[in-house]
Amino acid sequence: MEKKSRILIVGATGNLGFELAKASLQASHPTFALVRDSAFSDLLKSRKLQTLSDQGASLLKGSLQEKTRLLEAIKQVDVVICAVSSKQVLDQKLLIEAIKQAGCIKRFIPSEFGLDPYKTRISGLDNNFYGRKAEIRRLVEAKGIPHTYICCNFFTSYLLPSIVQPGLKTPPIDEVTIFGDGNVKGVFMKESDVAAFTISAVDDPRTLNKAVHLRPQGNVYSMNELVELWEGKIGKKLKKIYVPEEELLKKIKETPYPDNMDMVFIYCAFVKGDQTYFEIESPDGDHKNFEIKHFFGVEASVLHPDVKYSTVAAYLIMFRRIKLSSRPLSYLIQQV
Ligand SMILES: NC(=O)c1ccc[n+]([C@@H]2O[C@H](COP(=O)([O-])OP(=O)(O)OC[C@H]3O[C@@H](n4cnc5c(N)ncnc54)[C@H](OP(=O)(O)O)[C@@H]3O)[C@@H](O)[C@H]2O)c1
Repeated sequence: MEKKSRILIVGATGNLGFELAKASLQASHPTFALVRDSAFSDLLKSRKLQTLSDQGASLLKGSLQEKTRLLEAIKQVDVVICAVSSKQVLDQKLLIEAIKQAGCIKRFIPSEFGLDPYKTRISGLDNNFYGRKAEIRRLVEAKGIPHTYICCNFFTSYLLPSIVQPGLKTPPIDEVTIFGDGNVKGVFMKESDVAAFTISAVDDPRTLNKAVHLRPQGNVYSMNELVELWEGKIGKKLKKIYVPEEELLKKIKETPYPDNMDMVFIYCAFVKGDQTYFEIESPDGDHKNFEIKHFFGVEASVLHPDVKYSTVAAYLIMFRRIKLSSRPLSYLIQQV
């Protein structure tokens, strides 16, 4: 049997990083986590670390600011996956330098896990959110580091719980705001599914130096379709308030950063269509253009049909249960 790559996760105490570490262990990869000293004295984080350690993960102390520890950790593995938050994206520069210096890494997956930063068309609106991720891509490519980018679009825990209503945490039950004409499609993926697809990509030669897009059937919806789906779940029609593009742009500009970011992401996905306007190349297609970077990608569920994932419809069933249940929302979220 082919040997499984040894995987180092940076950010394993975080939301996505914990899922990545669990998925790596689940897939029987020797799994390592680079953990900051401070995490061990935090109750929630130390519980997560205990869970990972109990399942066989090796915990290595270090941070993105400590080059010696980074090098020590990198030299023990074949693959590095970074899942630091969007605020720390540029802090990956020293990690990239260490990966280059170590010379042993056969795949690096930088912290992206959202829309493809080479495809977004909202520069000037997003406080350089995607510009920072694109800057890291360019650095990885300039250094010649073997890589895969994971473009998973939205997490289900982001915006879907409110049916894309900025500022709300639960779905609307009387009226709903629809941005643009409501026909532009976006994509939602559950974090544990993002993690499973990411781990499936690490040893797959078809994903080397490519962007892997997650756009599977059952997870691509326009706002009109989402609302209709929700109405079907609750058995009730909602009052619809349409906010045209110009009005949304005006609100984005009038609202200070970072409070405007939900609206920016909504504009990007559901008005501009930046998650779905481009075709994804078939892995079985003509590969002659594969030397031309950035113009191709692969779709994860086509590459790995064995990975089971949650659909948007399944996720929304949980919210219908809220109406019938006295359980707190956090409990219900864990059940999905
Ligand atoms: N598509 C979406 O809808 C969506 C939504 C949210 C996030 N994301 C993306 O998902 C990725 C992960 O975000 P997240 O929200 O899961 O992150 P998170 O929960 O904030 O976790 C960040 C992790 O990074 C670690 N970390 C921070 N600074 C570090 C440093 N200097 N050295 C080493 N480790 C450090 C933290 O460790 P400590 O425990 O020590 O603090 C923590 O484990 C990001 O790329 C983000 O943009 C996407």
